[in-house]
Amino acid sequence: MRKTELAAFLFMGLTPSFAQLGIAPQQENGEAIVVNKCGVSVYYVSMGDSGSFGTLSPDAVYREQFRLRYLGADYPGEDKYGGISIMLSPNQTITAAVDKQQAFFQSTITQFEYTYHPLEPPGLWYDISNVNGYVYNTDNGWNGIRPWPFQEDGLIVEGTSEECATVVCPGGNPNGNSTCIQAYTHSKDDWATHGCRNNNSIVLTLCTEVTLDE
Ligand SMILES: *[C@@H]1O[C@H](CO)[C@@H](O)[C@H](O)[C@H]1NC(C)=O
Ligand SMILES: *[C@@H]1O[C@H](CO)[C@@H](O)[C@H](O)[C@H]1NC(C)=O
Ligand SMILES: *[C@@H]1O[C@H](CO)[C@@H](O)[C@H](O)[C@H]1NC(C)=O
Repeated sequence: MRKTELAAFLFMGLTPSFAQLGIAPQQENGEAIVVNKCGVSVYYVSMGDSGSFGTLSPDAVYREQFRLRYLGADYPGEDKYGGISIMLSPNQTITAAVDKQQAFFQSTITQFEYTYHPLEPPGLWYDISNVNGYVYNTDNGWNGIRPWPFQEDGLIVEGTSEECATVVCPGGNPNGNSTCIQAYTHSKDDWATHGCRNNNSIVLTLCTEVTLDE
């Protein structure tokens, strides 16, 4: 299986106002929701320690309640809990492939990443990562030219309350630059990680700029 880099989650930069809110009990966890507005099938794997492959048809919605990923007692402190990556690709080569799952893992992906942390306020971190979104490993994405998987039609991430920062990756080449500045392009782009209370849900809408003419 292709190795993916889960972006490093930053716990240090959280503002005290979030901490004061405390963490909601796990049974109140919100959901990670993906809405496919792309007009073509999008393929996904929700990856923790393992993950299974699925297809999101046009206009279909994928949702999962935020999952706890306990890494083990050997990990110190806050590192005991790991992230989940909802790996996504609209690559239509997968549609034609006999082994779709194998084709998926050979494709570039955009990742909708989150960590539910039961001990570290505000309880939930999330980001969009294009670290594995470029065809050639040597492409660093910052050249503003290379496409990432949803570059053509863009995406948006919104929470169910104002506590949760919005992430916008416009479609096309705004200002001549196709790089999504609000997503991870490199693994240390930690400004792209946001936190809010774990009883919020986070909705990722893919292809926000598809028009009916397309
Ligand atoms: C699309 O998928 C195919 C087969 O998995 C892969 O070879 C190709 O590089 C992918 N293209 C992109 C842009 O990710
Ligand atoms: C695209 O934007 C990124 C982030 O602001 C910047 O680092 C990069 O140099 C830009 N590339 C071009 C070609 O303007
Ligand atoms: C999360 O829980 C807090 C405390 O019970 C509540 O004030 C807040 O409205 C909840 N947020 C959501 C999105 O349900």
